[in-house]
Amino acid sequence: MTSSEPSALRAVILAAGLGTRMRSRLPKVLHPICGRPMLAYVIDAGTEATGDRPMVVYSPATEQLRGVFADRADFALQQEPRGTADALQAGLAAIDAGVEEIVVLSGDTPLVRPWLVTRTIEMLRENSAPMALVAMQLDDPTGYGRVNLLGGRADRIVEEKDADDTDKATTLVNAGVYAFLVPWLRDALLRLTPSPATGELYLTQLVELARNEGNPAAVVGVDEPIDYWAVGGVNDRLDLQRMARRIGRQILERHMRAGVTVLDPETTTIEAAVEIAEDVTIEPNVVLRGQTRIGRDTVLRSGSQVLDSEVGERCIVWSSVIERSKVGNDVKIGPFAHLRPGCDVGDGAEIGNYAEQKATRFGARSKQHHFSYLGDAEVGADVNIGAGTITANYDGQAKHRTVIGDRAFIGSDTILRAPVSVGEDAVTGAGSVVTRDVPPGKLAVGVPARIRSRRGEIAADDGGGEPGS
Ligand code: UD1
Ligand code: CA
Repeated sequence: MTSSEPSALRAVILAAGLGTRMRSRLPKVLHPICGRPMLAYVIDAGTEATGDRPMVVYSPATEQLRGVFADRADFALQQEPRGTADALQAGLAAIDAGVEEIVVLSGDTPLVRPWLVTRTIEMLRENSAPMALVAMQLDDPTGYGRVNLLGGRADRIVEEKDADDTDKATTLVNAGVYAFLVPWLRDALLRLTPSPATGELYLTQLVELARNEGNPAAVVGVDEPIDYWAVGGVNDRLDLQRMARRIGRQILERHMRAGVTVLDPETTTIEAAVEIAEDVTIEPNVVLRGQTRIGRDTVLRSGSQVLDSEVGERCIVWSSVIERSKVGNDVKIGPFAHLRPGCDVGDGAEIGNYAEQKATRFGARSKQHHFSYLGDAEVGADVNIGAGTITANYDGQAKHRTVIGDRAFIGSDTILRAPVSVGEDAVTGAGSVVTRDVPPGKLAVGVPARIRSRRGEIAADDGGGEPGS
């Protein structure tokens, strides 16, 4: 029996903190940035740099993240948020005895890139140091631990809460990315003492231990300055917005390089998972979210929002909302149309001003141009839906289906009281209230609608009689 080789290098991600500065019921690391939870970006970096699943440290307050990342990480529980060193101890306890080196990341630094994690490990090895850390140069270092250097290595880190005025003037700060030799770390963690100011166990106190032993922490960011955008942290909603802007801009640039025209990046939002083909044009104030795909040569005009949907090639979507739906090729939508979840729109269809669909299959080349609602409907090909037509699909208790055959012509202001069907090539008159199935090729008129031949003769299957009878 052979099992896969245990990795010699693992990543531990600290994500048990309360994130109180966010003032939120949602754990900080689950706040979305461009459609993905903040922690997803850190898990990406940890996975790529080590080639293995990261160990994520959580707490009862951040329990939710286990469900979100079950397939991408292992988990260790920190019972109470007693500080970053206590969290690391919990993570380390869950790591295989054979692991010799670890990198430590914070769940609240979504910009961290794999190269920086790798660089930190290299720094540890090149210097034969027991620990290495990343320091960044910030114009405004408020809130971060300040790094004091001694001969290019780290002398000590002073946390904001414990800093005096001289410390506070230091602009070199601890980014929260570390590499450790595991045997040294296991022993050193037992020797930490709680901060007098907060009672927490600070991971940053390890720097002092290493220095006192004569082999201080190696530092990435001394020779080659590291800036905020390499590994800045999110502590409050202002940071969150700044980060989302940055990551959003990177996403836009990736699409533009790949052949997408984005007329105004400042007002365009494209979430991380969205896929866009070449020669798509995106006008200002467009929002593309979730698992969305846009086909070649499609134009998304100003004000359109697409969520978890697939839009085909050569479509025009104009100031419209499309949710969890599929749109074929050569489709025109809008202005001001709304596809609610579950729609499937065929090639060449047109859905116009103030038209709404929900859970509707709308056939090829069919048209629904003005002020109209189709819900739970199955509409064939080449159907015309007149202005003001609605499916009365809800009787107060249950939803019912409407089926409309190919080439049917639904007159203006028709009410289709579901469950009901209109056959192929059938016609409904303007203002008709259709309460019974209309056979193929027939005309339905009146309130409630009565069946005639297409030339207006009373049909044998009418049975409706005069109104009120
Ligand atoms: C920490 C560093 C600081 C550094 C900054 C960089 C310490 C003591 N300070 O400060 O030097 O400049 O990160 O971003 O390490 N966490 C736990 N359990 C806890 C406490 C925190 O898992 O008991 C996690 C948090 O979820 C977070 C990370 O550790 O992901 C950092 O904690 P946070 O409270 O944000 O530390 P900072 O004050 O930012
Ligand atoms: Ca932080």
